[in-house]
Amino acid sequence: MEHIFPTYQQYPIDIVAGHDWHLTDSNGHTYLDLTSGIGVCNFGYSNEIIQKNVAEQATKIWHTSNLYESQLVDDVAGALCEPDMLAFFCNSGTEANEAALKLARKATGKTTVLAFNNSFHGRTYGSMSLTGNPDIQNGFAPLVPDIKFANFNDESALTQINDQIAAVILEVIQGEGGVINGDSKWLQQIQDACKKNGALLIIDEVQTGIGRTGKKFAYQHYNLDPDIVTVAKGIANGLPLGAMIGKQALAPAFGPGTHGTTFGGNKLALASAKGVLQQLTPAFLSQVQDKTNQVWQYLNDKIVSLVGVESVSGKGLMIGIHLNDALDVNKIIDTLHDQGVLTLSAKHNTLRLLPPLIMTTEDLLTGLSQIGAVLKKEGAQLA
Ligand SMILES: Cc1ncc(COP(=O)(O)O)c(C=O)c1O
Repeated sequence: MEHIFPTYQQYPIDIVAGHDWHLTDSNGHTYLDLTSGIGVCNFGYSNEIIQKNVAEQATKIWHTSNLYESQLVDDVAGALCEPDMLAFFCNSGTEANEAALKLARKATGKTTVLAFNNSFHGRTYGSMSLTGNPDIQNGFAPLVPDIKFANFNDESALTQINDQIAAVILEVIQGEGGVINGDSKWLQQIQDACKKNGALLIIDEVQTGIGRTGKKFAYQHYNLDPDIVTVAKGIANGLPLGAMIGKQALAPAFGPGTHGTTFGGNKLALASAKGVLQQLTPAFLSQVQDKTNQVWQYLNDKIVSLVGVESVSGKGLMIGIHLNDALDVNKIIDTLHDQGVLTLSAKHNTLRLLPPLIMTTEDLLTGLSQIGAVLKKEGAQLA
């Protein structure tokens, strides 16, 4: 590509069309999609309800401004939030985390935030400063001050939560960091320490949220009660939308003039989100969980024992296949491209899968068997 900054190492695949969970490139090659555009198009590429909502909204009005009330915005916020929470709409995950950081400092009057090594929260200054990965931060100093780091799943983190801490931010499953599951007991202990010390618990659900793990929010698997939750990716199935959701009690800290965005709450994106949330019903989530059971049985029976595979992690349809150092995840991804399967990587040589939630069990298992065959072939060369 000649006219764009080379911030991405791109694959020579120009995707020009999609339906359900199948994609077609400009050369007419078709692909089974196990990526959802990095966890975004959870309802695939041709969902009729979403298409209808967006098309209808496009003929009415696309944009007004947040200076005017919008029933659409309020309805989507109501469908998104738990009853005791309010939403602030923005355009991306990093912006949702920026809003969370600002709200936490303003509401508590404290500045120090505890984040975790190996995390990912975005690329703008606040979110990048919260991201525990030197590769993301290198060259961009000075970062936002008063951010401390602890090791994920490590008890020593508990001792770092004292009454000077405004907030603790974490992903319950670290996504970009290599699909690392948070330990259930440790997550509870973090929450308890936050409550005891008057620190807000911020859970970044940008990757794990909107049904990805079989529940609306992944924290619901662990019975957590966060003060602030951030979402983006799947919320509008591909139109740019993010949201910071916070406890109603925090509202006085985010009064008129404290925070804003021109595009946040855009009506096209909200029309899409309305379609997503309309379909994210308990019945739909229980279907996702059923598929998940079969997928994880396959992973445990057929994938984890392959030569070159160290372990498998994740939850629901957020899957990390950890390869040992002798296998190169990028080579595996390229080979799968040639076979018409799109997959992702994450840190620590992890093959990451985030398939559309609507994919049939049959196609999920077909994709996994293709991955298994490639890993088996590559692994055989190690022996
Ligand atoms: C957990 C998490 N938080 C935040 C972000 C940043 O989201 P965005 O790229 O929409 O700014 C991501 C993106 O991958 C993410 O996985």
